[in-house]
Amino acid sequence: MKFFIDTANLDQIREAQDLGVLDGVTTNPSLMAKEGITGAENVKNHYKAICNIVDDNVSAEVIATDYEGMIREGEELAKIDPKIVVKIPMIKEGIKAIKYFSNKGIRTNCTLVFSAGQAILAAKAGATFLSPFIGRIDDMSWDGMELIHQISSIYGIQGYDTQILAASVRNSLHIVKCAEAGADVVTCPLSAILGLLKHPLTDIGLAQFLADHKKANS
Ligand code: E4P
Repeated sequence: MKFFIDTANLDQIREAQDLGVLDGVTTNPSLMAKEGITGAENVKNHYKAICNIVDDNVSAEVIATDYEGMIREGEELAKIDPKIVVKIPMIKEGIKAIKYFSNKGIRTNCTLVFSAGQAILAAKAGATFLSPFIGRIDDMSWDGMELIHQISSIYGIQGYDTQILAASVRNSLHIVKCAEAGADVVTCPLSAILGLLKHPLTDIGLAQFLADHKKANS
């Protein structure tokens, strides 16, 4: 399972990259706004800065919701760097745009996915990645992880190439459950990745080993 970081914050992207386990980055208009990145030129430069940190797979989301606008924006985004993956919302015009980019060999990430039906449509259109939002489903008191299981089963049976990119991940347990459910990629905040490190018995065990070593060598 690949690890993407779900942020536009350059320091956090660098920290995850330094850990040596990062496979990519996802952003969205809210995450860009959170970093204060506004205006076409600044947005473009910020994506370039992200691409300079990571090895591949930088999702950059279109703002347009009409077909022509998405094609225009997506082509501009794709020109920034070969690492860019054009992120397109799960709407009718978006499916048409995904098909267009798929035919041109430009990678896409179909975002705002909340059902298995949407997942089938995006795969048929040739999306490279599919982003089901598990945390937002959990927020509605439904089971986001169940959707990952369902899509994983359908994609396996049908032999679709689209990679399941579990998004809206909120914590470390989500990451573990996504791995069990067959997600190809998980995108999550840095805190969820670092949370995987934590176990009290690791800390207690290490403290004991170091204390024993000190005692024996003093
Ligand atoms: C990533 O592609 C999504 O935009 C993101 O994971 C959404 O997460 P949120 O539900 O925490 O905003």
